[in-house]
Amino acid sequence: MAVRTAVIPAAGMGTRFLPATRATPKELLPIYDTPALQFVIDEAAQAGCTRVVIVTSRAKPSIENYASAASTDKVAVTVVYQDSPLGLGHAVSCARQAVGDEPFVVMLPDEIMGDASLTKELIVLYEKSGKSSIGLKRVAAAEISSYGNVKVVGHKGDTEDIVEILQVVEKPKPADAVSDIVIIGRYVFSPKVFDKLEQIKPSANGELQLTDGLAMLANEHALLGVVSEITRYDTGTPMGLLRAVIEIALERKDIGPQLNSWLKEKFNK
Ligand code: UTP
Repeated sequence: MAVRTAVIPAAGMGTRFLPATRATPKELLPIYDTPALQFVIDEAAQAGCTRVVIVTSRAKPSIENYASAASTDKVAVTVVYQDSPLGLGHAVSCARQAVGDEPFVVMLPDEIMGDASLTKELIVLYEKSGKSSIGLKRVAAAEISSYGNVKVVGHKGDTEDIVEILQVVEKPKPADAVSDIVIIGRYVFSPKVFDKLEQIKPSANGELQLTDGLAMLANEHALLGVVSEITRYDTGTPMGLLRAVIEIALERKDIGPQLNSWLKEKFNK
């Protein structure tokens, strides 16, 4: 079945951006003049999705307001609610009824990609294999402990970047890392993942972790990945947000040249 729905979880507390997030949800913080959420809605449409379901919180009415004006002729944007921020796994399960019994994409709005190529690749892989497929990348040893870390093996008959995931470890200590490959915020799921998410138990911090659902799929040999070198901005951290604002503005025709000459002037002093 074709993948036509993208789920964007946006019900988190955004504590790393306090006090800004008392005024504006993290997902609406501007990357120069465009909210982060809009980049992800655009990416979903470019990847061929015709429906976007945003999981939000009643404590963040500006997300719902934004969504109400975000539909275009290519994509219909709707919202569902997560009543309390019980974790990413729980947020995804809140979209179950809206998604229905069909495959879907999950896109984290605090990761902005340079283009829609990874999401497109994951959709193609899902449509070919029938297996849930997720975005991966290689990172330096010091960064592994900030991510879900995976042990992989090459996927028979496919190119080198396509792997089967054998094991998933959430934020391992450096000594416990199983590889230099980590999970990034793009996933294509079979609707069967909703049953897995029903079974996950709260982790040490009380949250229902999406990675626990991924680990169940991996145990059943039902999880593939694409090891990608895509440009990616982690706008969930203050430094990542700053980098995204500067690099994306530098590429823009309207403001880029002006910003470039200001930066040169500033650093040549
Ligand atoms: P994060 O853990 O990065 O977001 O989740 P957060 O919890 O808002 O951030 P901090 O740690 O407090 O600064 C990644 C994405 O998942 C959503 C968030 O809104 C974010 O877009 N999320 C997270 C939910 O929708 N519900 C949750 O319970 C947790």
